[in-house]
Amino acid sequence: MKLSQKMSRLGTETAFRVLAKAQALEAKGIDVIHLEIGEPDFDTPPNICQAATKALSEGQTHYCNSQGIVPLRVEIAKQIEGTRGVAVDPNHVVVTPGAKPIMFYSILALLEEGDEAIYPNPLFPIYESMINFSGAKAVPIPLKEELDFRLDVDELKSKITPRTRLIILNSPHNPTGGMLEERDIRAIAALAQEHDIIVLSDEIYENIYYDEKPLSIASLPGMLDRTILLSGFSKTYAMTGWRLGYAVLPPELVSAVVGLIVNSVSCTSVFSQYAGIEALTGPQDSVPKMVEEFKKRRDLIVDGLNAIPGISCHKPRGAFYVFPNVKKLGMDCQQLADYLLNEAGVATLAGTDFGKYGEGYLRLSYATSQENLEKALERIEKAVAKFAR
Ligand SMILES: Cc1ncc(COP(=O)(O)O)c(C=O)c1O
Repeated sequence: MKLSQKMSRLGTETAFRVLAKAQALEAKGIDVIHLEIGEPDFDTPPNICQAATKALSEGQTHYCNSQGIVPLRVEIAKQIEGTRGVAVDPNHVVVTPGAKPIMFYSILALLEEGDEAIYPNPLFPIYESMINFSGAKAVPIPLKEELDFRLDVDELKSKITPRTRLIILNSPHNPTGGMLEERDIRAIAALAQEHDIIVLSDEIYENIYYDEKPLSIASLPGMLDRTILLSGFSKTYAMTGWRLGYAVLPPELVSAVVGLIVNSVSCTSVFSQYAGIEALTGPQDSVPKMVEEFKKRRDLIVDGLNAIPGISCHKPRGAFYVFPNVKKLGMDCQQLADYLLNEAGVATLAGTDFGKYGEGYLRLSYATSQENLEKALERIEKAVAKFAR
């Protein structure tokens, strides 16, 4: 069958492929430690589950407003107002099945052939995939370990052309755990305003940070109306399987994105949205507890990796990933990831799964127990001992 030409430009997210490979090994009786998949290993807090059950028992089982039910949009607007310090109109909030469709919809709505989009590389791979799919030119900014994986603002400035329509930010960042500093964000906001560029700020890890709180570019004067602020429930409330995310959009983008929702999924599951209201308005104690545990695991895995000859690892400031440098092991990172899965029973992702500038690194998710992390470290150390130079 002949597929459309644009399908050849669509990328993917390899974490799901590696998960399937790891599960195939498990089906053969091989023990695998999962450090590949990016989701909290905690259960969704019970109050949130109860809110969904209540909604189901009250008949919330139908289609609903494509943009998201009004009471949830009102709570999201309040939440953004409280955390970003800017007034948000619930009519500019759009709710989607997970935050991921926001990438798809807003890039499709904004970009076309001849446009350019600047994004950090490595990055969550769907961004590059969607820019390419839209026909626009993907303009990567390589993230450098020596900058703690922050984006180099001078380099970004040098890549802006009259065709630049979009800059993508993600802080805290997947896959490196890096975070932008306030001066970076202020400089990027000034560039966006000067050159009339839209910013897509992926803030899905907004609550998972270990020192200072990440600054949202949307909170800077004049930025809300040119920012696609993407966030959601998956990471903060351990709700990956509920498929519930949202964006606050520039007013001109709202009806375009809602149009794409109507053309694809119609609306987001309504009982998930009631659970979302409870997540935002109910007790918040599960969040700092989860982050405290992530911090212990981060310290454990960073120290453990740095103790392995041939591997060095920066301390991430947010999210739940480490991005160790494995260049001294002398093989490309995809080979190493395959080797660790097949020979050591540790599932990781190659840095290149997040873009070509990820070569020389692995991504490990530490959203698993300390016991599993200790076991994984032992296995990795043993498996790479013969390669360390
Ligand atoms: C940077 C980033 N943005 C967005 C998402 C998607 O989140 P959701 O599960 O809500 O679609 C992820 C998931 O891993 C992510 O890492």
